[in-house]
Amino acid sequence: MNSSISLTEQTQHFIDLEQKFGAHNYHPIPVVLSRGKGVFVWDVDDKKYYDFLSGYSAVNQGHCHPRIIEALIEQAQKLTLTSRAFHSSLLGEYEQLISSYFGYDKVLPMNTGVEAGETAIKLARRWGYKVKGIPTNQAKIIFATGNFWGRTLAAISSSTDPSSYENFGPFMPGFELIAYNDLNALESALQDKNVAGFMFEPIQGEAGVVVPDEGYLSGIRNLCSQYNVLMIADEIQTGLARTGKMLACDHENVRPDILILGKALSGGVLPISAVLADDEIMLTIQPGEHGSTYGGNPLACAVAMTALQVLKDEKMENNAESMGILFRNEIKKLDSPFIELIRGKGLLNAIVIKHKNPEASWELCLSLKENGLLAKPTHGDKIRFAPPLIINEDQILEAVAIIGKSLATL
Ligand SMILES: Cc1ncc(COP(=O)(O)O)c(C=O)c1O
Repeated sequence: MNSSISLTEQTQHFIDLEQKFGAHNYHPIPVVLSRGKGVFVWDVDDKKYYDFLSGYSAVNQGHCHPRIIEALIEQAQKLTLTSRAFHSSLLGEYEQLISSYFGYDKVLPMNTGVEAGETAIKLARRWGYKVKGIPTNQAKIIFATGNFWGRTLAAISSSTDPSSYENFGPFMPGFELIAYNDLNALESALQDKNVAGFMFEPIQGEAGVVVPDEGYLSGIRNLCSQYNVLMIADEIQTGLARTGKMLACDHENVRPDILILGKALSGGVLPISAVLADDEIMLTIQPGEHGSTYGGNPLACAVAMTALQVLKDEKMENNAESMGILFRNEIKKLDSPFIELIRGKGLLNAIVIKHKNPEASWELCLSLKENGLLAKPTHGDKIRFAPPLIINEDQILEAVAIIGKSLATL
């Protein structure tokens, strides 16, 4: 499939190594990166690229942000891991910072995004039994079709994508699916008194940046309150300034009962995730009932505090908002017959490709790479464009020119 481009000997060497000794669970764009700075990455032959994936929105602050790297190095020389068997001098400070940053009583720190999703579901089930009074082992969690929240058995048990779940069963019981962006479907699902929570993405990232109708988020809030069900927002991809607000839920001024964060919480430096909630929910889990060796480690605390501070200090949500508008307008101006649709919010955007060749979006990504911009197709005909949030106007214009030139090769 990489027939249309030639790779240098060095690039081929690294790809062959991965192919031979690594599991084949990914199909990367054939580029081998060795360096990153801000909105750019460089390959092993020192070719420079715009990074329009940003580690699936983990690198919102830009590659190797100097303040985040400085915090990392400074803390790495002092103390990196205590486990939660002991207290650390940073954990409480971090917990205070992130809880007040987002306006919740408490945080439960984890590492990867999917662990935070699992944690949120455990919390919702616990709350369901201890507070709502759901009979033992009867709790249900509702998800939306097209969701993506990771690769654990629980995550794939709620997936509607066969490549995620096929031949990995049996699956987690107690999960139900309803259509995304459908408040009627939600209301009928919530009639069941055993429903503890509705977990959803405010914009579905992996599904191809599916933006729901205005009013969906506030509708979820109202229905969850009305039926005493926890609103669980997975803001792992949409949060932390990506969509032009600190949280995508801020677009409709709604506050979820459980907020899940990850990815850019470390600016792409470490796997750091977090689940935020108020005491009524969070204190249903007691010592020994949930945890993680690395969750809340001192290195993660130092990095996350700085990563959050950087987002605010550099007003990244404002830049994401204005650069996002510019980007979508400039893409529309290209007036390409191969772009069926451009959609998104802030700097979380995608184009839907229209072409008789089913491989067109992959081919386009190869061409983009040749022309100095990295992006990856998602679900066949969609290409996500999500650069670091520090991108400026000239860089957006140059990137759109690269996209235009690459489209012309289709
Ligand atoms: C919305 C959302 N939730 C959860 C996850 C899982 O995060 P991780 O890959 O860190 O486990 C992702 C990853 O892409 C995501 O986009």
